[in-house]
Amino acid sequence: MSTVTLCRAVPPSYLGFCHNQAFWKEMVMEIALTTCNIRSWNWKDLASIVHHANNRKVWINLRDRFPHPYTFADARSWLQSVSEHRPETNFAIVVDDVAVGGIGFTLQQDVAYRSAEIGYWLGEEYWGQGIATEALKAVTEHAFSEYDLCRLYAHVFEWNQASARVLEKAGYLFEGRLRMSVTKDGQTIDQLMYAFTRD
Ligand SMILES: CC(C)(COP(=O)(O)OP(=O)(O)OC[C@H]1O[C@@H](n2cnc3c(N)ncnc32)[C@H](O)[C@@H]1OP(=O)(O)O)[C@@H](O)C(=O)NCCC(=O)NCCS
Repeated sequence: MSTVTLCRAVPPSYLGFCHNQAFWKEMVMEIALTTCNIRSWNWKDLASIVHHANNRKVWINLRDRFPHPYTFADARSWLQSVSEHRPETNFAIVVDDVAVGGIGFTLQQDVAYRSAEIGYWLGEEYWGQGIATEALKAVTEHAFSEYDLCRLYAHVFEWNQASARVLEKAGYLFEGRLRMSVTKDGQTIDQLMYAFTRD
C-alpha cells in the first residue's frame, strides 16, 4: 500500500546556486512506501547523489551517459536538468530523508507514444533490502495512472541478474534478448528486454 502526497517544496537558503526559482514553487511528488519513499529531486540531494552514484558497480549496469567518476558538477547538472524537465518523470529513492538512488521513465514518441522506458539505480549500501522492487512497483503504478501508457519497458545488461530479478518481482515479463546490442566498458553484450503491459 502506498500513499501519494503533493506538497510545496521549501528551498534551503544555503543552496544559492539554484537559479530556477520556479522549480521551488511547483508542487512536488511524494509516494510513501515501506522500505523507502519516492519523491521529487531536491537541491539538498546534491551530496548524497555523489556519495551513492560515484560507484563503478552502479555505473557498470547503466548507460554511459551516467557519469563515472560521478562528481558534484555531474550532480548539479542532473538536478538542474530535472528541475527544468516537465512533465516530471524522474524521482529520488529516499531512505531516512536521504536520496540513495533514482528511478524514472522516459516517455516515447511518434507511434510509440503509449510506451515509456523505465530505469533505476540504488546506492550499494542499500542493495538486497527489496527497495528497488518496491520503488519499481510504485513508479510503474504512478506512470500508468498519470499517463495514457500501455507499456513500460526496460533493457537490462545480460550480466545484471539482480535487475532482471527486480523486474520479474515487479511483474515485468521477459520478452527477449537483444543480441550484442550494447558495448559497455569495452565488452559487447546482449540486453534482456522486460516489459509490463496494460490495456
Ligand atoms: C539492480 C538494483 C537496482 C537492485 O536493487 P535492490 O534494492 O538490491 O533490489 P531488490 O532487493 O529489490 O531485489 C534484488 C533481487 O535480486 C537478487 N539478486 C541480487 N544479486 C543477484 C545475482 N547476482 N544473481 C541473481 N539474483 C540476484 C536478490 O536476491 C533479490 O531477489 P530475491 O528477493 O528474489 O532474493 C541495484 O543492485 C542497483 O542499483 N544496481 C546498479 C544499477 C542497476 O543495475 N540499475 C538497473 C539497470 S537495468
